[in-house]
Amino acid sequence: MCSMHLAQNFFLGWLFTSNGTDLNPGPEPMDISTNTTTLPCDISSHDVTILEGHTSEVFTCAWSPSGLLLASGSGDSSARIWTIADGPGSSSSQNGPLNVVVLKHFRGRTNEKSKDVTTLDWNGDGTLLATGSYDGQARIWGGDGELRNTLNKHKGPIFSLKWNKKGDYLLSGSVDKTAIVWDIKTGEWKQAFEFHSGPTLDVDWRNNVSFATCSTDGLINVCKVGENRPIKTYLGHQGEVNAIKWDPTGSLLASCSDDYTAKIWSLKQDKYLHDLKEHTKEIYTIRWSPTGPGTINPNQQLLLASASFDSTIKLWDVELGRLICSLNGHRDPVYSVAFSPNGEYLASGSMDKCMHIWSVKEGKIVKTYTGNGGIFEVCWNKEGDKVAACFANNVVCVLDFRM
Ligand SMILES: *[C@@H]1O[C@H](CO)[C@@H](O)[C@H](O)[C@H]1NC(C)=O
Ligand SMILES: *[C@@H]1O[C@H](CO)[C@@H](O)[C@H](O)[C@H]1NC(C)=O
Repeated sequence: MCSMHLAQNFFLGWLFTSNGTDLNPGPEPMDISTNTTTLPCDISSHDVTILEGHTSEVFTCAWSPSGLLLASGSGDSSARIWTIADGPGSSSSQNGPLNVVVLKHFRGRTNEKSKDVTTLDWNGDGTLLATGSYDGQARIWGGDGELRNTLNKHKGPIFSLKWNKKGDYLLSGSVDKTAIVWDIKTGEWKQAFEFHSGPTLDVDWRNNVSFATCSTDGLINVCKVGENRPIKTYLGHQGEVNAIKWDPTGSLLASCSDDYTAKIWSLKQDKYLHDLKEHTKEIYTIRWSPTGPGTINPNQQLLLASASFDSTIKLWDVELGRLICSLNGHRDPVYSVAFSPNGEYLASGSMDKCMHIWSVKEGKIVKTYTGNGGIFEVCWNKEGDKVAACFANNVVCVLDFRM
């Protein structure tokens, strides 16, 4: 699933460097070429639905596991659940009313910047949506948009929040340095994990009871519900660890950092298995391919993709710890990557306003969509025939993808 913490660097930058007057931590102005000449592989506007309604940048989006609902989270203190028509070609924005539910994270005045929706995640059966907010609260909503519960214990913005597969626990990581496991049945917090000395930037479940957390302190902890110490602490990064992800079988953990490296870790040893060192700037996010033993695509090789401020995406052979291919095509930092469910394509979104879809096998762009703002996140639906992208200019675009 492709829920991601928001553009945390913007927020951290704002938190730690601002004097408090800059309440709009959007992307910095950039000197980029705005050549909108149509490329041969440009996606035609007939294949694009533009979802309008948010009144500030859209940081995050996630398809429900059932596939027809798309949730988006924005700096306008709301999340929205959009019902997207099934099938290709049915998606012109002029065609009929779009069904959307607005999940308000405020009462009264609408410009409460402190309630930015920074992260969101659907539970495994798509019946509940959890949102994490800049106000430190996690909220649980029904698919109908009804607020079911407000989870209140964090003392700082939530940057990452994930359901376990079973759906009985929700895990949240916050600027307050902690991670909290919430018991969904009781609606109360089950356990707080206070093992970092800096903000928790990302969290990821390994299985139903154990998970990893990473922080600006450069450390990664593997924790288990019920245990009062981390079961593993990985040392090795020389900078903030921006994201972590368990491989599809929960045996390897990948991490990426401001130290320009990505690393692969195993529970069997304290030192990293592989140090992936080809990027020339900070690495913002990573994704495992949905391929290899134990996945629905068992006969394809397991890969790791890393997306960097150096404008490239790199694909890695995780067994050998070697670079397979560098995907060069963006002109600005890449904030998001997502593999298609069959593992054959990779979508990427960048501050250069472009979403590219790459053939993984060939390492080439097969489609491009150019919007009017930087892209914070891209996300495939379960069928692999639609890709959503969320933009800094307040819109979410849904592209029909056919090859
Ligand atoms: C912009 O498009 C024109 C027309 O196709 C092309 O000649 C030019 O090289 C492009 N410039 C950039 C910076 O891509
Ligand atoms: C987590 O729980 C679900 C539902 O009980 C189960 O199907 C799944 O196999 C469990 N996952 C792991 C890794 O134990």
